[in-house]
Amino acid sequence: MGGSSLQLLFTCIVLLLCLKPTLGNYWRVGDANHSCVERERQALLKIKEDLVDDYGLLSSWSTAEGKNDCCKWSGVSCSNQTGHIIMLNLNFSVLEPLRGKLSPFLADLQYLNYLDVSFNDFNHSPIPESIGSLSFLSHLDVTNANFGRNIPFQLGNISRLEYLDLNYNHFNNPKNLEWLSQLSSLKHLGMVGVNLSKFNNWLQIVNKLPFLTSLYLEHCNLPNIFSVPLANSSTSFDVLYLPYNSLTSSSSVLEWLFNSNSSVVELSLFGNQFQGMIPDGFSKIKSLADLYLDDNEFEGGIPKSFGGMCNLKTLSLIRANLSGKFLGIIRNLTGCAQHSIENLYLDGNQITGKLPNLTTFPSLSALSLSSNHLNGKIPESLGKKSSLETLNLGNNSFEGVISETHFSKLKKLKYLDLSYSPLIFNFSSNWVPPFQLERIFLRSCQLGPRFPKWLQTQKNFYWLDISNSGISDNISHFYWDFSPQLLVLDLSNNQISGHIPYFSLEISNFPFIDLSTNNLEGEIPSFLFKAEHLNLSHNMFSEPIQSLCTIKNEFLIFLDLSNNRLSGELPDCWMHLKGLKILNLKNNHFFGEIPRSMGLLLGIETIDLRNNSFSGEIPSSLKNCTKLKYINLGHNNLSGQIPMWLGTSIPNLVVLILRSNHLHGIMPSHLCHLAHLQLLDLALNQISGSIPKCLNNITALTQKLSSSTTITHEYTEMLGMMLYSIVYDDQAFWMWKGSEHEYKNILGLLKSIDLSSNKLTGTIPEEITELVELISLNLSRNLLFGQIVSNIGALQSLDFLDLSKNQLSGRIPFSLSHIDRLSVLDLSNNNLSGKIPTGPQLSTFDASSYEGNPNLCGEPLPKLCLGEGIAQNPAMNGSREHVGIQEEEEGFINRGFYVCVALGFIAGFWGVVGTLLLNMSLRVTYFRFLNGFKDRFLYGNSTEYGQISEAALK
Ligand SMILES: *[C@@H]1O[C@H](CO)[C@@H](O)[C@H](O)[C@H]1NC(C)=O
Ligand SMILES: *[C@@H]1O[C@H](CO)[C@@H](O)[C@H](O)[C@H]1NC(C)=O
Ligand SMILES: *[C@@H]1O[C@H](CO)[C@@H](O)[C@H](O)[C@H]1NC(C)=O
Ligand SMILES: *[C@@H]1O[C@H](CO)[C@@H](O)[C@H](O)[C@H]1NC(C)=O
Ligand SMILES: *[C@@H]1O[C@H](CO)[C@@H](O)[C@H](O)[C@H]1NC(C)=O
Repeated sequence: MGGSSLQLLFTCIVLLLCLKPTLGNYWRVGDANHSCVERERQALLKIKEDLVDDYGLLSSWSTAEGKNDCCKWSGVSCSNQTGHIIMLNLNFSVLEPLRGKLSPFLADLQYLNYLDVSFNDFNHSPIPESIGSLSFLSHLDVTNANFGRNIPFQLGNISRLEYLDLNYNHFNNPKNLEWLSQLSSLKHLGMVGVNLSKFNNWLQIVNKLPFLTSLYLEHCNLPNIFSVPLANSSTSFDVLYLPYNSLTSSSSVLEWLFNSNSSVVELSLFGNQFQGMIPDGFSKIKSLADLYLDDNEFEGGIPKSFGGMCNLKTLSLIRANLSGKFLGIIRNLTGCAQHSIENLYLDGNQITGKLPNLTTFPSLSALSLSSNHLNGKIPESLGKKSSLETLNLGNNSFEGVISETHFSKLKKLKYLDLSYSPLIFNFSSNWVPPFQLERIFLRSCQLGPRFPKWLQTQKNFYWLDISNSGISDNISHFYWDFSPQLLVLDLSNNQISGHIPYFSLEISNFPFIDLSTNNLEGEIPSFLFKAEHLNLSHNMFSEPIQSLCTIKNEFLIFLDLSNNRLSGELPDCWMHLKGLKILNLKNNHFFGEIPRSMGLLLGIETIDLRNNSFSGEIPSSLKNCTKLKYINLGHNNLSGQIPMWLGTSIPNLVVLILRSNHLHGIMPSHLCHLAHLQLLDLALNQISGSIPKCLNNITALTQKLSSSTTITHEYTEMLGMMLYSIVYDDQAFWMWKGSEHEYKNILGLLKSIDLSSNKLTGTIPEEITELVELISLNLSRNLLFGQIVSNIGALQSLDFLDLSKNQLSGRIPFSLSHIDRLSVLDLSNNNLSGKIPTGPQLSTFDASSYEGNPNLCGEPLPKLCLGEGIAQNPAMNGSREHVGIQEEEEGFINRGFYVCVALGFIAGFWGVVGTLLLNMSLRVTYFRFLNGFKDRFLYGNSTEYGQISEAALK
């Protein structure tokens, strides 16, 4: 990407995030001499009536005195000759859409030439059929506007239409495409997401449109085999964009492309199902300048014939299953007198060998080879490729020293990725690089122990990832003069110490900031709360966080301040952070009441306040947080009762941990409404009354539902133009076999109830035996009496059962011996009596499981039962069987029960297109730019701590 287009990119970010309300005015070319035509003014007012304007974008569309001239209304432009409205642009902001439907009165704007209603939310309503009467319309853009129903065939009447973009809506499958064949002026057609699987003649139809040069048919389910027009057909495409259509190597698309003399300049076929060698046929398309074949399943390398494509500028084969030596690939790409290749993207393949000197490609601007198996030294000659703007060599096996020579002439370099490479960085301390980087990825490189000084010469970067790079310096040695466009700052997993200097960060985006797992201390400066994602966990920050109240940031989604030394009362201004989804403050020294204003976090899904000193009652305002899946208030000083609304207002709750507080009162039966509840921990409180009988209403514990191993939150963060899918897994400490462990990777499997150390009375309800998914049940240290329910053996998943220190009486039910998985059993200190039943599983427990029951007898207790001779065998083969079970059990434990020390969070990532692929209903917002920029995306390199990884924008 050239410098100028990068500039454009920034402009777009700024437009998106800052100037959005004024975007409409940009289009005004109206002249004050003409006030608007009354009929058109009325039409606009009618259009407004059908729209829900949450953000006041149409406030200028008003009948108020002095606002009569509709040519001055936002988004409206009139002809300076006739006074008629000729342009209507309702695409104000991707983040602030209009809602509602598009009024048929649109047709009254007869002279409309340009209509853009993209990036709004028309809630699956149809495009009005009356649109067909807009005979002057030449530009129609409804991209990503959530239109539904049928594409109106009346569009076919608009014979002047040159630009038609229907991308990313929810139209019904079209029944015919006759309307399309009538659009004889069409130059640009976008039908992304429209199902064309029935149209074997789609190519013939578009081929007959004489002026069509850009065709966008992504995710269209194009038929693989279809009728191909004759070779001498008229149209020639500049842009042919056919990704994600499940096309295979035998597809008619290839047959047509290779035999039709077509003069395609830019060809995108990524995300299809091509297999085998890359066909030589591509080299027959002499016009081809940009070829995108990423995400396919090819075999072998790049064919020799590609060396004859003398116009080729961009070749992109990311994750295309290529193999072979890189030197061989370069040789195969060499053949013309002068090679024009500018961009070579081969990331995520199995390419081996060394990096050659690349002198054959004098114009090389982007070299992207990450996540391959390249090795050896990086040649110093690379430093002479002064045309280089993007250099991505991360996640290979390069070795040796990286020195200033490697960069000596790289004046244009803007993107540098050497992550995950065992390279030794050796720069003189006063090296001033020739470049100003914009994106820097040096994760898991050896940069430390001091902050690399050369980084401080970089003033323009908006993406810096130097996590886990061995830096153990004081943060004051790192300059904080960030570019206002900062998007990502990741310094996590180093040993950076000291106080973050206070300064006012003038950022225009809401960045992703991760400083976790360092030794930072002192107060958290308020500017950090301007982020969209802020992770400061595992540091030594102290002091209260009152400064939160000085910031108003509805874009903050993720806030993790856990494992610090923060103290004081929490400020009561959470209404400033309305967008928060994940809040983790655990393991700090906060005290005082949980602020009521947290109830205004209407989208919050996780609240973790564990292990602080919060007191007072659980605020009732939290009942407004209906999206909560995870609440952990354990290990605090909370008092009062368990609120009933927890059961009724928070239907999606999966984890409820109130362990170790001073809660009293009964255990409300309302908790039984929590159908998704998997972990209920009320231990170590003063809860009295009986155990509700209705626990069998909790379907997550009674039914085998497909449950994931993790408790996962998935949401998107928009960083600049790109949308990232973030996956956050909840974690929780759980008492398991006598000690607390932190679970994350398998938290979703840990279906458990812990009511121990309370004052519960009454009998164990019969219904508890229906909780067949329970893995752990702890009712110990209560005042329970009566018999152990005889059918307790129905709890077949149970691994851990503790009923000790109650007043249970009667015999131990024989069914207990049927629970094969049981590995911990504690029935001690009750009033149980009679003979301990025998059985393979039960015989593994020693006397401590049963002691303190004066009237129990039989193995393994020393006391013989009356009338019993020599203790009778728990059959020998039973024991052996038992060993087997034990091993299996251990296996289960090894598979993950003690894991969960993983750091940070796992951030999944998909590029724009990938996100849509996974969730077409997600209203992705910036496709507008797809046509102008090629959004490219690379997978993150890490699964270890998970990272957010950048998309390479070409
Ligand atoms: C009308 O406006 C256009 C664009 O602003 C301008 O180029 C043109 O000269 C104007 N024509 C008249 C007659 O004012
Ligand atoms: C080079 O081209 C030949 C012939 O097309 C092919 O068989 C081979 O796999 C290619 N080698 C590499 C490394 O791409
Ligand atoms: C680059 O490599 C080629 C072939 O390996 C060699 O012929 C050429 O001399 C090299 N050029 C430089 C400048 O090292
Ligand atoms: C819950 O939210 C509503 C508005 O959605 C508000 O009026 C009400 O006061 C809130 N309730 C509490 C207890 O905060
Ligand atoms: C339990 O479920 C039954 C049947 O679905 C329902 O009638 C009852 O009200 C539920 N009880 C509670 C306390 O949720």
